[in-house]
Amino acid sequence: MPTLNMTKKEIIEWLSGADDATLFERSAAVRDAVVGDSVYLRGLIEVSNVCRKDCLYCGIRKSNLSVDRYELTTEQVLDAVAVAVEQKFGSVVLQSGEQTSAMFIDFIENIVREITVKYDGVVGITLSLGEQTESTFARWKNAGAHRYLLRMESSSADLYSKIHPSGYSLRQRLRSIETLQRLNYQVGSGVMIGLPFQTIDHLADDLLAMVRLDIDMCGMGPYVEHNQTPLAELCRSAFSPAERVLLTLRMVALLRMMMPDINIAATTATETLDPLGRAKSVAVGANVIMPNITPSVFRDKYCLYEGKTSADLDLKGYNIAYSCRGDSKRSRSR
Ligand code: 5AD
Repeated sequence: MPTLNMTKKEIIEWLSGADDATLFERSAAVRDAVVGDSVYLRGLIEVSNVCRKDCLYCGIRKSNLSVDRYELTTEQVLDAVAVAVEQKFGSVVLQSGEQTSAMFIDFIENIVREITVKYDGVVGITLSLGEQTESTFARWKNAGAHRYLLRMESSSADLYSKIHPSGYSLRQRLRSIETLQRLNYQVGSGVMIGLPFQTIDHLADDLLAMVRLDIDMCGMGPYVEHNQTPLAELCRSAFSPAERVLLTLRMVALLRMMMPDINIAATTATETLDPLGRAKSVAVGANVIMPNITPSVFRDKYCLYEGKTSADLDLKGYNIAYSCRGDSKRSRSR
């Protein structure tokens, strides 16, 4: 069995491309041995692109005035959930730009409750709605949500501050993640790969930080420029798009070996830079795919980065576990 406790030096060697063939072979073997080769589906519903934050890399940042802002109605969200259930997706993810108004909190709570009542336990409910207060996280949990995705974006406080406006801190972000864990959510996190100012050393630290945080799930993908953002204007990534895809595959493979029993997503951003990105991610250790089930008229408006695909996914060729919530093995063993 490959080493699970990898040193930073070893991680850096793999990330630098010491031996991809061996790395990918080992990570696939660990995945098959520990969690099997099934792929779980989560129907992704992009509830709203209204955002109070101004992250320097993100296309739907508050200051981007060319975004046509929308908010789905409760009925539109529930219709999308019905589509997910009909297609035997085991879970749905409600994602949105960060909003903290009382109206938004009620809106989400109500939808989560409706899903819970209507599909009692049949469909897993994951939220990806940014940083919130403990009482908001708790209300949504009580309404029936049981997983939450909150990427740390980068585990380096210095890099974090370079890609966010002043006033946003990694410490605050990590505190939210810890709050979610304390509330007994299954928590997913992750980082962007190939950001401006980012080095291999940062990425090795990111992997070690995810181990330390003891996350249940991970979503990480390449940084993709969006030309209406300050970061794209300010500084270029040191890595070409193809290098970012390769780095993402190495990160997925290494995390699979370091945390064999978590769920790891094959992300849309990887698919955006490489038409086979998702399949390649699954081949090296990912076990979750999140098909977009946002009503199609809204999909182009949820544009986090350029070229974000809004096409329906082809699921042929994967060993999909239909009608299955697909909680991570790690969370089940808690
Ligand atoms: N490139 C890649 N990923 C991005 N995200 C936001 N903007 C970009 C970008 N330009 C990711 C962030 C966020 C997730 C919802 O989308 O990591 O957490």
